[in-house]
Amino acid sequence: MSYDTLFSRLSVHGQEQLIKFWPDLSAKEQEQLAREISSLDFAEVNEVFRRAVDASKVIKEKLDHDLKPIPDSHYESVNNLSNEKYEEYESLGFKEIAEGRVGVLLLSGGQATRLGFGHPKGMYDVGLPSKKTLFQIQAERIVKIQQMAAEKYGKEGRITWYIMTSEHTMAPTADFFKTHSYFGLNEDDVVFFNQGTLPCFDFEGKVLLDEKHHIASAPDGNGGLYKALKTEGILEDIMKRGVKHLHAHSVDNILIKVADPVFIGYCTSKNADCAAKVVQKSCPSEAVGVVCRVNGHYKVVEYSELTDAAAERRNPDGRLTFSAGNICNHYFSAEFLSKICNFESKLKLHLAKKKIPFVDSDGIRQKPTEPNGIKIEKFIFDVFEFAENFICLEVSREAEFSPLKNSDAAKQDCPTTARLDLLKLHRTYIRQAGGNITDDVDVEISPLLSYAGENLEDLVKDEVFVISPFHLKSMSESETNGVNGNH
Ligand code: UTP
Repeated sequence: MSYDTLFSRLSVHGQEQLIKFWPDLSAKEQEQLAREISSLDFAEVNEVFRRAVDASKVIKEKLDHDLKPIPDSHYESVNNLSNEKYEEYESLGFKEIAEGRVGVLLLSGGQATRLGFGHPKGMYDVGLPSKKTLFQIQAERIVKIQQMAAEKYGKEGRITWYIMTSEHTMAPTADFFKTHSYFGLNEDDVVFFNQGTLPCFDFEGKVLLDEKHHIASAPDGNGGLYKALKTEGILEDIMKRGVKHLHAHSVDNILIKVADPVFIGYCTSKNADCAAKVVQKSCPSEAVGVVCRVNGHYKVVEYSELTDAAAERRNPDGRLTFSAGNICNHYFSAEFLSKICNFESKLKLHLAKKKIPFVDSDGIRQKPTEPNGIKIEKFIFDVFEFAENFICLEVSREAEFSPLKNSDAAKQDCPTTARLDLLKLHRTYIRQAGGNITDDVDVEISPLLSYAGENLEDLVKDEVFVISPFHLKSMSESETNGVNGNH
């Protein structure tokens, strides 16, 4: 494509700065830039910027009047379930797994900037005795839950693991799984797909160059899931395989109960089309979005959108009224996903001011130390309001939520907290199964041995754990490694 053609194409939309350095580029670089420009519809690009800016201008009215908590009829807490109810949900979930009707949607397209790892976050090893990465831990939980469902129902239903990556994380993620033989899963049941990207802008809406021949872009947020499901043929795959229930979650929660049968069973029994696991907010000022109803619609309301009065409001029993902390842990029926994917282009756009490396007007690449531009993202939870039967399941933070967001310097939501939270939970499992372990002893329980504390009694009852750190393995792992994994 010639300079003139590109110029006329871009100038109509006020984006001709993208070819400012055209004469400096080699033929190959010109080809790359022309390809990137041709792949974008600049009328749409400008419209996306306009919509995002407009959405951010809407004064975040403090929503007190319209705000309601989730009604009791749509809310249950795992800790308050009777044993019968718990088992009923779990059995239902296992049945759906055994019938091959359960899939997992892993959100793994983020850039992990706060962690500063340089690889996909799922490849991070938080320093557990086993040195397992987040991907391996999650894969093994899937292996185990499939086995448990098969044992219960005599049918080997397989869970399809849909892994959403972005242009930066796709190749290393796929390679990592291949190198590790899919961590014991069938290659056919692990499906990678790419989410889309959106260009990055300066504050005036001009698209930035990352290099003279390369447009600055970023993944379109975890809500890019819906577009990608459609454009990457994943919806079709879901239908073809007969998957009816999808458990969607972030990659970074080390305690994630992947394909949790209790959650699947709860949603199935309530005939929910969309659901969220939530944890109780720890205090009124905790900066976490809360799931609630606004004008009758289910939404996640950001902490900044709540008045202090709303954030501090308590029920007669002392519990915070708006306490349903959102943890990026969701259920979708396959039917709901097909419905949503048809109008995903109307989803809200969120704007964030970020430090974006860019080529300045003198052609020099700058790495800003202050926010210099705008990234636009869609959020996975923005579809809640379209659900016809939305429900929440409250789970305990200690058992199910410890996200890896930051480096250790931040001292929270970091590798150390993730490791300690998992080891603490595993001490609880050991004590519940009758073992003796003090708080200074670290024992990691392999997911291949126990998904959530079950199956441990024979191994740990009346045992005293003293070796630390220690990895309590399944028989199959001990054989493979030639090490006795049992205590
Ligand atoms: P975060 O918003 O915490 O982003 O994502 P992140 O990429 O992990 O970290 P930062 O903000 O750059 O430091 C929550 C979940 O959503 C996924 C992430 O991979 C994570 O599992 N995500 C985020 C995507 O899949 N795509 C995106 O575009 C953004």
